[in-house]
Amino acid sequence: MKPEFIHFKEFSDGRGGLVALEQHHNIPFGIKRIYYIYGTPENTSRGFHAHKALEQVAICVKGACSFVLDNGKEKINCRLDSPTIGLYIGKNIWREMFNFTEDCVLMVLASDFYEEADYIRDYDIFLRAAS
Ligand code: TYD
Repeated sequence: MKPEFIHFKEFSDGRGGLVALEQHHNIPFGIKRIYYIYGTPENTSRGFHAHKALEQVAICVKGACSFVLDNGKEKINCRLDSPTIGLYIGKNIWREMFNFTEDCVLMVLASDFYEEADYIRDYDIFLRAAS
């Protein structure tokens, strides 16, 4: 299992940088929701769930944070630290986020609206579903 990074085209000049995100173009699904996580205290972890159907792309638009991604057979670690890189997270992937920098703003684009019924929050149930 390898992290699925998306390298966004960066429009940079003397005025700074700009990245454009477009559904079905550089984001591989229709975007129904955007949320962002910020002000995460040191030594705090988040996530600890998988989704039954939801697809997401996570982008650290500021700062950095680390991910554990787990497909039930293999776990990988990766770090997001650039506003020009997205991490695609498909369905049935357990994710944990940790080691947030103080200034981290983690933006997430999602393929559907918030729906608690789409969450798998119990790791044993996730493992049973993944096998
Ligand atoms: P939670 O799923 O615990 O965040 P994470 O798994 O990323 O650590 O979400 C925290 C709260 O925010 C929880 O009460 C549900 C709510 N929430 C929404 O209302 N809409 C959303 O799109 C998301 C992601 C969370």
